[in-house]
Amino acid sequence: MNIYKSIYYQIRFNNLKRSSRVMCYDCQDYIQKGVKILDLGCGSGIIGKTFSDLLEVTVIGVDVRDDRVVDLPFQIVDGGKLPFEDDEFDVCLIIYVLHHAEDPSFLLQEAKRICKGKIIIYEDLPEGFLPKFRCYVHIILSNLFSGIFHLKFNFRTQREWEKLFKNIGFGIFAKKRVYKNNDWIDPGKRILYVLEKNQVDQYNTIRDNIIPELIFSGSNTEIGL
Ligand SMILES: C[S@@+](CC[C@H](N)C(=O)[O-])C[C@H]1O[C@@H](n2cnc3c(N)ncnc32)[C@H](O)[C@@H]1O
Repeated sequence: MNIYKSIYYQIRFNNLKRSSRVMCYDCQDYIQKGVKILDLGCGSGIIGKTFSDLLEVTVIGVDVRDDRVVDLPFQIVDGGKLPFEDDEFDVCLIIYVLHHAEDPSFLLQEAKRICKGKIIIYEDLPEGFLPKFRCYVHIILSNLFSGIFHLKFNFRTQREWEKLFKNIGFGIFAKKRVYKNNDWIDPGKRILYVLEKNQVDQYNTIRDNIIPELIFSGSNTEIGL
């Protein structure tokens, strides 16, 4: 990990931990205790580790680079075929990854192959002037922080994502707009999708984020940079 990312995670660790607890709360109805989860594009590993601890599941992270700041079982991948058997996982997390992928369609097809249950996706939406502007800023900052310059704008609107999901053979089991605790200063627009293979769209309601106090406790003692 480079020095910029290391400083970023030192500063934002508690905040990221808090957001991942909120994600656990949003997703808990779709994840049963003891299941095996692939965190595809796990980045720092904070989200995978939080799911593993709070929901009592086994999480394996994969990414094209190792940026972990927590202890999460991990494998490097090359952006091609995933090194797993068909239906090896019960659930697959793809959290703010698709817009970074060279080929989001291929990544989704691979997720469909290795996962027999639900695919959980979070994405930023470039819908409206400010959210779109924020997506551009996000891509520029990620390029600066990672030192990898690919100014590809892979963000899609809800309509575009949903068309792609359908083409790949996913049904939308549930979806909802999600909010971060710093949304009052952040114009980003975000969405959570829960997909199922070979199903028709159902658009179930995901329970609202009324977060127990417990979710907001936590310290940065786990950070292992
Ligand atoms: C914005 S980060 C999100 C990290 C993590 N999911 C989170 O929400 O904190 C996007 C991550 O996707 C990874 N990524 C991009 N393309 C990928 C691919 N084809 N396979 C696996 N990881 C990929 C990047 O390396 C990066 O770590």
